[in-house]
Amino acid sequence: MSTYNIAVLPGDGIGPEVMAEAHKVLDAIATRFGLTLTLNTFDVGGCAIDKHGHALPPATLAGCEQADAILFGSIGGPKWDSLPLEQRPERAALLTLRSHFDLFSNLRPARIYPDLAHLSPLREDIARRGMDVVVVRELTSGIYFGQPKGLEGEGEQQYAFDTMRYSRAEIRRIAISAFEAARKRRGKVTSVDKANVLVCSRLWREVTEEVAKDYPDVTLEHIYIDNATMQLLKSPTDFDVLLCSNLFGDIISDECAMITGSMGLLPSASINGSGFGLFEPAGGSAPDIAGQGIANPIAQILSASMLLRYSLNEVDAADAIDKAVVQTLSDGVLTGELLSQEQRHHAHSTAQVGDYICQLIRQAQ
Ligand code: NAD
Ligand code: IPM
Ligand code: MN
Repeated sequence: MSTYNIAVLPGDGIGPEVMAEAHKVLDAIATRFGLTLTLNTFDVGGCAIDKHGHALPPATLAGCEQADAILFGSIGGPKWDSLPLEQRPERAALLTLRSHFDLFSNLRPARIYPDLAHLSPLREDIARRGMDVVVVRELTSGIYFGQPKGLEGEGEQQYAFDTMRYSRAEIRRIAISAFEAARKRRGKVTSVDKANVLVCSRLWREVTEEVAKDYPDVTLEHIYIDNATMQLLKSPTDFDVLLCSNLFGDIISDECAMITGSMGLLPSASINGSGFGLFEPAGGSAPDIAGQGIANPIAQILSASMLLRYSLNEVDAADAIDKAVVQTLSDGVLTGELLSQEQRHHAHSTAQVGDYICQLIRQAQ
């Protein structure tokens, strides 16, 4: 019997609500596949600031270090927005964890399934043709982490600065992640940049071209970020793997999530060179809907599936979750944000969607 230790960090806002459903799903999966999954829960984010005075308490970091993988919810919210940047949950906890474990490779798969095209806000004929992309986002460098960063001067002369910075080695390793992903998919990498303006993007293109030479079976195209955001809406089938720097990948993955129907559908895997990973929804703590039991738990549940697939190599268990999720969506068991205003009275709650997915997993036994 395989035994795994998973650090569970629910966080703030809808984090604990959707995490409760992922927890149920992992319990159902453990029973069906005979896995022993030990889930240890730790405080992180704004709630950890309130309780322990720090967004990433030492016990939480230690729990993550001892785990086989981390399942993360989401953090942040209006209550902690006025803190200095370095104390805010986003930087003090999430960016610190990404950097601490060197989780440079962020995979964000987004898909419109043919019979779920009606969930997409795209024009019907475009949505019906589908979309199946994975955003491969560099996660531990670029403008998020580049130094110097700061605020200087006073009055109208005051200025702020961030540094976008990439080394060849950093570009090379994320490009390799993208080409490896493309090789297992439809064999196309579209590298997203702003090489008409940014020096970083010029180096990005150069190194990406070098990596492409080792992958003759994969096609490489380059596209400017502004055009990419537009082409994704116009012709999403043109894309397979989108290779992005940290900031561009952040922006484009929210767009991809919405193209599939909701921010609440997009999972993500953040992985280091040893296969250790943190798995989290691409979206945030959604303060506008927190506490109402209406958040979509699917991004969190699919993040648990990615954890099983990428960090634990439990591929059958991951497939079972993915299949149950698609079935749930096809059966019309949907949270409110996936429904039109007129249909919203048919909405299912966060817990009802989680329960339905668990039931499908158990029935398939
Ligand atoms: P958000 O992703 O939380 O919300 C954007 C929109 O998407 C909102 O309308 C929200 O209701 C909706 N949404 C998101 N997840 C949903 C779900 N599961 N079901 C239904 N609807 C969902 O982005 P925001 O409002 O810009 O940020 C809120 C807070 O979350 C901020 O503090 C931000 O920094 C933080 N954040 C955290 C993470 C993370 O922890 N990984 C990611 C993104 C944003
Ligand atoms: C994401 C989030 C984070 C990011 C924030 C919360 C720091 O938006 O994971 O997409 O910008 O990376
Ligand atoms: Mn984001």
